[in-house]
Amino acid sequence: MRSTQEIKVGLLGLGVVGGGVAATLLGQGDALSRKIGRRLVLEKILVRDPAKARPADVPAALITTNPEEILADPQIQVVVEVMGGAQPANRYLQDALSAGKHVVTANKEVMAKHGPELLALAQQRRVHLLFEASVGGGIPIVGCLTNQLLANDIRSVRSIINGTTNYILTRMAHQHTDFPVALKEAQERGYAEADPTNDVEGIDASYKLSVLAYLAFHQRVPPENIYREGISRLQAQDFRYAQELGYAIKSLAIATLEGGAIQARVYPALVPLDNMLAKVDGVYNAVEVDGNLCGRVLFHGRGAGREPTTSAVVGDLVEIARRMDGAGPLPPVAALERPWPIRPIGDLRSRYYLRLTVADRPGVLAQIAHILGERLISIAAVVQKDTNLAEQTAELVITTHSAQEASVQQALREMTGLSVVRRVNNLIRIEE
Ligand code: NAP
Ligand code: HSE
Repeated sequence: MRSTQEIKVGLLGLGVVGGGVAATLLGQGDALSRKIGRRLVLEKILVRDPAKARPADVPAALITTNPEEILADPQIQVVVEVMGGAQPANRYLQDALSAGKHVVTANKEVMAKHGPELLALAQQRRVHLLFEASVGGGIPIVGCLTNQLLANDIRSVRSIINGTTNYILTRMAHQHTDFPVALKEAQERGYAEADPTNDVEGIDASYKLSVLAYLAFHQRVPPENIYREGISRLQAQDFRYAQELGYAIKSLAIATLEGGAIQARVYPALVPLDNMLAKVDGVYNAVEVDGNLCGRVLFHGRGAGREPTTSAVVGDLVEIARRMDGAGPLPPVAALERPWPIRPIGDLRSRYYLRLTVADRPGVLAQIAHILGERLISIAAVVQKDTNLAEQTAELVITTHSAQEASVQQALREMTGLSVVRRVNNLIRIEE
């Protein structure tokens, strides 16, 4: 006889995260049911490849390749989506919510691209859609922005939310290696995928930032409106010079609400060595939220991997199990009558680090300083670094005071046209 305390769960995906969720539900069912007063019963698991070897502790009878065995089964009350990708995940989530099932997802791409519509559907169907694992792995940032920090007007979210890039940048800083070497090592250690584009080009971080900005500002900030730069242009000497200037280089995902507009960006930046974000190393993630009531709050932890992500997914399942009977709070839906405009990157004001290879002869610095001066870009410091006697070139590192991005980009174009400027090696923003 089936206990009335049972909650039947359908799992879409049995990979890194799905394997962890299945192992927890199957192996720790008793402990979990003692904690929450209900039993989470794993009823079916959807996979793509029926021939693939599966963990020994997962009964073969649970596995299916037919999504309808989960989505159309009236006994299944909660669907956990850990497949990844926008489709068919979005369609399955819509079907599950439309059928009145609660949903937990770890999928940042689906939440960034379709989250507001899915949350509206969940609200309409009076079911829960929770997505803690979609950002920051085991860090409970989604729940905190949704609930505990809700009373705040959030001013900014500054974060390191891609563990793969943070690992690569940490290796480049500490081992003085170039990007391709650090990337290869990240792939060998299983952090970076064979095709690392999503991580190293900031796409993964832009999806996660889109989710965070939605929760922080109660308004959709689509990934395509998030300015994005990857980390592949960084070279070993950028880390050396940054260190000498008192900075670390981190790939930051930042969303701010200032002067009546939102700005969202993902790019490598110089961060003062005494800033907490500069100390976040390896595959770790961190999210700093600045709210008008709470001030600055920093979350730090493991942003990916089977165990931390399982912690977040099962946490969402527990929350649903606890809320199921009562009216419970409905999922957050952006409700601003007049949404904030989203500022283009050209409007950003920032300090800059610029590294150029120039002809090593008199008058060169004057030409560069003239271009910067014409664009109202004030130089903070200039250092001449390595010289190449054979080529008769020198490397110049210039830092600026706060300037407007559009002016800096224009100045760069003009500098590129100077015969004495051999290469613009890098332009990196300085986040104080
Ligand atoms: P994964 O290891 O690639 O596993 C994906 C699973 O989904 C596999 O079992 C695969 O089936 C199944 N699947 C994929 N497409 C399918 C389809 N069309 N039909 C049926 N089954 C399908 O992925 P993962 O690393 O576990 O990530 C899952 C989700 O969690 C993603 O949204 C990811 O962004 C998110 N996430 C991952 C981590 C992490 O550390 N890995 C951290 C936070 C969030 P087969 O086994 O048959 O191939
Ligand atoms: N690829 C992601 C990262 C993990 O490196 O942070 C999943 O969110």
